Amino acid sequence: MKFITAGESHGPALTAIVSQVPSGIAIDIDAINSDLARRQGGYGRGGRMKIEKDKARILSGVRFSKSLGTPITLEVVNDDHKNWAGRMDVIGQAPDGLKRETHPRPGHADLVGMLKNDFDDARNVLERSSARETAARVAAGGVAKAFLREMGVEVYSVVTSIGGVCIPDDVPLQKDRAEESECRCPDVETTEKMKQAIDEAKEKGESLGGEVAVIATGLIPGLGSYVSGPDRLTSKLGAAAFSIPAIKGVEFGLGFESARRPGSLVHDGIVYDDANGYGRTGNNAGGLEGGMTTGEPLVMKLAMKPIPTMMKPLDTVDFDTHEPVKASKERSDVCAVPAMGVVAEAEVAMVLANAYQDKFGGDCMVDIKKSIESYLNRIKP
Ligand SMILES: Cc1cc2nc3c(=O)[nH]c(=O)nc-3n(C[C@H](O)[C@H](O)[C@H](O)COP(=O)(O)O)c2cc1C
Repeated sequence: MKFITAGESHGPALTAIVSQVPSGIAIDIDAINSDLARRQGGYGRGGRMKIEKDKARILSGVRFSKSLGTPITLEVVNDDHKNWAGRMDVIGQAPDGLKRETHPRPGHADLVGMLKNDFDDARNVLERSSARETAARVAAGGVAKAFLREMGVEVYSVVTSIGGVCIPDDVPLQKDRAEESECRCPDVETTEKMKQAIDEAKEKGESLGGEVAVIATGLIPGLGSYVSGPDRLTSKLGAAAFSIPAIKGVEFGLGFESARRPGSLVHDGIVYDDANGYGRTGNNAGGLEGGMTTGEPLVMKLAMKPIPTMMKPLDTVDFDTHEPVKASKERSDVCAVPAMGVVAEAEVAMVLANAYQDKFGGDCMVDIKKSIESYLNRIKP
């Protein structure tokens, strides 16, 4: 499965095309729309999310709720586009007196995007570098999640820190409890502290980042490869995580902590019993060894930097005059860590779906399932 997205933040719509999709996947549009709504939510989101009510429309590749094996096109309309008439028209000429964005925001793509593309208006950059694009990724990821659902695999995420407020180490990373929280954090007390941190940041014109854990359960051992660097599942998952705007760090399992411990306190012991076959005494590896799944849950952590658009804008220079000015203010989130978790689920789901297709064939669900069954019969008692 591969996907590409198209669309500008205030253009008519965002689109995703997912190709190399096997035939016979049950596609649940409600599940895709539920993820789009989850991406829009979370404490600390900006005014834009009040305007949009994201829903995906499937334009190709599905018939009677089953994938056909042809490319699936998903469209998410930007309701805000109508408010941008004359500023984001696709056809025609720029109107006289059009206000250009010439105060590039530190931490965003504005300045370098303008320089590299010979633009004198940062809007030509920010319309695409805006994380509004991630709505299309979530829609595309819904196809991968539907595939994985048929494999008994679930991908979910929980927020573990916002603005330095961290979940205590002994709190289990439970999906249901996270979904009940406005910060998508599975601890009630930490959620309240996170909300307070976001309120304080908002008051000061500040922004906050944080961390998310992405977990995939139900995976079988042996997805991915140890043979070549680019084929390692670790490298594919890392690349997918770093493809999300504002991600500055990725850890698997114990992550950076494993660099500080001796080997005996890092590596998970191997055990065997006649009923279940091979197993592990722990999951410090986060479900990956040698670039392959071990059969334990995949556990990844993603760190997101604070949002660069600030209501108390940072120092920058005017692109025309080079004079010092304050950075431009787009309507913006104070914190989008809970939303980022939903985007990360989509990215991770796409990589995992691909890993199944690489090992078990790519074009027909019935054949893929048979192939998995025969593999499991071989490796399990
Ligand atoms: C879900 C999500 C929502 C975001 N919302 C905003 C936003 O409202 N305003 C903003 O300036 N940046 C927002 N960002 C972050 C920018 O997209 C990101 O900081 C920017 O692309 C530059 O980051 P980079 O240098 O790491 O690519 C958001 C990111 C994500 C993942």
